Amino acid sequence: MAHRRVGAFAPGRVNLIGEHTDYNQGLALPFAITEGVVVHATETGEARILARALEGGEEDDFPLCEPAPATGWRAFVRGVVSELRRAGFPLLGARLEIGGDLPQGAGLSSSAALEVALCLALLALSDAAGAERLRLAELCSRVEHEWVGAQTGLLDQLASLYGVAGAALLIDFRTLEVDPVPLRLEEDGWRLVTLDSGERHANASSLYNARRAECARACELLGVASLRDANREDVERLPEPARSRARHVLGENTRVRDTVAALKANDLPAVGRLLSASHASLRDQYEVSTAAVEATVVRLLGAGAAGARIVGGGFGGHVLGLLAPGVQAPAGAREVHAGPGAYLLDPHTLA
Ligand code: GLA
Repeated sequence: MAHRRVGAFAPGRVNLIGEHTDYNQGLALPFAITEGVVVHATETGEARILARALEGGEEDDFPLCEPAPATGWRAFVRGVVSELRRAGFPLLGARLEIGGDLPQGAGLSSSAALEVALCLALLALSDAAGAERLRLAELCSRVEHEWVGAQTGLLDQLASLYGVAGAALLIDFRTLEVDPVPLRLEEDGWRLVTLDSGERHANASSLYNARRAECARACELLGVASLRDANREDVERLPEPARSRARHVLGENTRVRDTVAALKANDLPAVGRLLSASHASLRDQYEVSTAAVEATVVRLLGAGAAGARIVGGGFGGHVLGLLAPGVQAPAGAREVHAGPGAYLLDPHTLA
């Protein structure tokens, strides 16, 4: 009998604006990109998972029930399998092939794309219907927290699961409402590009968790449940570094709102200024930039970008730039487009 085979694609994301706001119940405006992770799953009939990362050719092999913890990409695979089973989804033993065209540790959310593609492929293979996308996002975030050691929010998973071609997503992390906001810039010849700083980062080992703890401390001192409830006057009385971190979060929420308004008014120069203001705040108040990132921002602005900022958790990765019509992108920059959210591959296209 031929063994069943399914495939799933999950995109990475670029966050247009709204950085380090997700775990502060704030606002963000990410979009799914057209690059992502592809997972093919083939039923094996044995209660094990055999996984192979196509780039690098590394493998993993573990029992379906109670996988042991691991590090690197294996932690994501074991975590997803374990959390899906813990949530009550009956999984089948499978051989997994993991590939795609998303650079790892580059601020484009390769981790969430991997988690989401794994979820969709494993669930499709076992015919587990009815998994709600929001529930999957939360499950993937548990994988990050408990298996990978990164106390990340829901930004990346929601962008990967809810992406809409041609639109950014306004996400309110207090209500988890997701509202598509059309990105019409290409019609007028504007482009969004990413430029790699060359520096790789991992949220589990960078100062990401420390920043999150600093925000929690700010909330404690202010007596609020999240920084969404904080007001500016109280924030100014906080000691450092809580004051600077909270300043960034409050300012960033306002910049997300202003960016949505500027996009609706088709005021792209204003979007560019907001991107650069976000970067300045991430560098000076949130302190997540590096020398390599700064040099990359300077290259984009030097080429004539209307605005540029670091994207993702910080401490390396890609820089986003907004280019007006006719402005030449610096060498190595890649245009990014808003693509659809994660989906199953048509079985007829599977090799
Ligand atoms: C990483 C995390 C997200 C978010 C961003 C910063 O990408 O995975 O949850 O916190 O950093 O905005």
